[in-house]
Amino acid sequence: MPVVGKNIPHDSARGHVSGESLYIDDMPFARNELLVDFVGSPFAHGKLIDIDLSEAQRIPGVVGLYTAKDLACNLFGPILKDEVLLVEDVAWFLGEPIVVIAAETRDAMRQAKAAVRITMEELPPVFTISEAIAKQQFLAPERFIRRGDLAAGFAAADHLLEGVFTNGGQDHFYLESQAALVYPGENNTLTVHSSTQHPTEVQEIVAKLLGLQNNQVVCITKRMGGGFGGKESQATHPAVMAGLVALRHKRPARIVFTKDDDMKVTGKRHPFENRYKVGFTNDGVITAFQVELYSNGGAYADLSTAVMARAMTHADNAYFLPNVEIKGVCCRTNLPPNTAFRGFGGPQGTVTIENIMEEIAFLLKKDPLEVRRANLYGETERNVTPYGEIVMNNMLPRLAAEQFRRSDYENRREAVRRFNAESKTHLKGLSCTFVKFGISFNTKFLNQASALVNIYLDGTVQVSTGATEMGQGVNTKIRQVVADQFAIEPEAVILMPTSTEKSNNASATAASSGADLNGSAAVDACQRLRTRLAEAAAKFIASKEADIEASPSNILFEDGYVFDNRRPARRMSFKELVKYAYHQRISLGERGFYATQGIDWNWETGSGNPFLYYTMGCSVAEVLLDRFTGALKVLRSDVLMDIGKSINPGIDRGQLTGAYIQGMGWVTTEELKYAANGDLLSHSPTTYKIPNIQDLPEVFNVDWIENDTNEVNLLRSKAVGEPPLLMAIAVWTAVKDALSAVSGDEIPRLHLPATNEEILMRLTHYRKTAASSVTETVETARV
Ligand code: MTE
Ligand code: HPA
Ligand code: MOS
Repeated sequence: MPVVGKNIPHDSARGHVSGESLYIDDMPFARNELLVDFVGSPFAHGKLIDIDLSEAQRIPGVVGLYTAKDLACNLFGPILKDEVLLVEDVAWFLGEPIVVIAAETRDAMRQAKAAVRITMEELPPVFTISEAIAKQQFLAPERFIRRGDLAAGFAAADHLLEGVFTNGGQDHFYLESQAALVYPGENNTLTVHSSTQHPTEVQEIVAKLLGLQNNQVVCITKRMGGGFGGKESQATHPAVMAGLVALRHKRPARIVFTKDDDMKVTGKRHPFENRYKVGFTNDGVITAFQVELYSNGGAYADLSTAVMARAMTHADNAYFLPNVEIKGVCCRTNLPPNTAFRGFGGPQGTVTIENIMEEIAFLLKKDPLEVRRANLYGETERNVTPYGEIVMNNMLPRLAAEQFRRSDYENRREAVRRFNAESKTHLKGLSCTFVKFGISFNTKFLNQASALVNIYLDGTVQVSTGATEMGQGVNTKIRQVVADQFAIEPEAVILMPTSTEKSNNASATAASSGADLNGSAAVDACQRLRTRLAEAAAKFIASKEADIEASPSNILFEDGYVFDNRRPARRMSFKELVKYAYHQRISLGERGFYATQGIDWNWETGSGNPFLYYTMGCSVAEVLLDRFTGALKVLRSDVLMDIGKSINPGIDRGQLTGAYIQGMGWVTTEELKYAANGDLLSHSPTTYKIPNIQDLPEVFNVDWIENDTNEVNLLRSKAVGEPPLLMAIAVWTAVKDALSAVSGDEIPRLHLPATNEEILMRLTHYRKTAASSVTETVETARV
């Protein structure tokens, strides 16, 4: 029986709850191991004058203090090489590492950190997008996606609408902080255990910054206690620090960021400030759309340009825009470099147009869902994105119809209207949003993967791919896929720790494509092994059955057995076949490779087919606001997606549910608050509010439609890691919808996240406006 499509448990399910699963800081301590930590810049922007290490050096138990001078190279970056590991001249964010410390004990480390004397001249910092724009401080040149005739589109519109929409950042809040443990080997080799989504990048940057060749460094990732994008490019920094110490002292070296340091010094989701102008007809159909997307990129480029590219290619979301101009600008500020975060700019692009849909509906006094449906991509026409990719296999209309029915939208819309007319204490809001998330790395060459499949003589299999396990279940999915290739039990297949030794030049496990790419590479390896095994089986069976010729094409693998379909009775177990093949001196190991076909992108023209396919969804959320406190409660969420043919429905349900809740955090409570000097005040769970169990929607329906037409991807599945995060945008638009009941003629503008404070300020503002207009009426009457 095939195991793909079955709900087998996550391969770490028991380990995660029992504590058996190993994370970096669970690995046994070696007797001579060194602790590693760093001292960072006291200013968000400052010129380094002097580093005095003399006092720290004298502390017993301090064995090494290192600065930029100790690195063979101090310049790197995942896209643009503009980042330093240790400040040489100018610090660009508060806490930016300057000195790396190696110590024997925690006590010595604590004293050493306090004894390092750094003298700096403070420079004026820039924290916001508007300040960066005013100073023309950017990380990269602006970019465009354009189509049609904007002027003609605006001229054809019955209405114009302009606005600025701001959305905030988000901390990854993975449970395992950034961490690395490095073992030195002979001849200046290093084995780096890293909590990273990208072992190859850790290998390359450790090698480069320490003056080694790539082949002297092996990076191993068993698992991460969550990554969410935060370990796509930023796991490299602790790995280099521990690597430097391990190499210098020839002793194992470990660094694990404290939660506070992790939150303060690592990058986050990019805040955006988006300026839009939209033209539309009386029916709400968009005729022209112009948007400028500005992201707060922080101190260095990191992945900002790629995040911006995804924001730009998701500015249309699910809606056809005939005449359109999308501009993207990455601003440079004195915050830690912002980075990948589940959705990778997609949420920031998508929420902008979802916000606009609410505003168009408000101005036209229509139901926002009617406006959305009027603009939704079509199946055969109005189905080309601003960048020229055709929306193939468009499930949006089907999802819309199905969700309309399942969520009982019409009745609930009426009920919400009645509630708001009657309740003096509360307000309700209802909203339906769409998601169309492009699958593939938007950098073409990253769309490749390899896999190593080794069969052992007892018929069991080890699989190693470039994919890293961060809880999302990629190992379990690949296990299922490989088990089916040989028709064996999933228990006979184990996914091995990810290692650059087995999977060289791998891409990050990111862009939701981990299972797509690495699973496909595993299939490639399995197919070649199966061909060889089928040849061996055919030969063996023919040697026993005198009247048939050996015919590999007649060989079938089923339920742990292998047989010739002309002689099903003479079956052999998979294990017997493996033994036989071994004695025939047939290779039982294979390396597979996969590269996504048919994708391309051109920045000159801002066009191409960057995505292999789209994962889509339709989301309905209903919220309740307290008119006096601004408190928000999500009453009901309906999540309906198209995720193709699921490889593991249980894992996919977990991804849909978890991503939605993480998205709810972004749009409601997770607010990054900084002091005037750029110090992050919300740097722990006491001050940074991620959703907890009481914040969950009271009614939470998570489901997907049957769709087995996604032929372009692995077993007709679809990527699920990031797209459902965007489904939570409906919670935010539902808040906006609730406010529209009290905002009078004013468009209810709302910042994201819609925290209780934000909601309360808006409510207070509308109450004041209403009160002053009452006064005005009275005065007019008097005159
Ligand atoms: N799920 C868990 N449990 N933990 C994570 O860190 N990361 C998300 C998503 N789901 C994440 C997760 C992100 S940002 C991505 S890109 C995908 O998983 C990556 O894995 P995949 O490509 O195998 O889906
Ligand atoms: N997602 C995640 N990481 C990336 C991407 C992407 O689309 N492009 C380049 N790095
Ligand atoms: Mo996910 S943001 O692509 O790591």
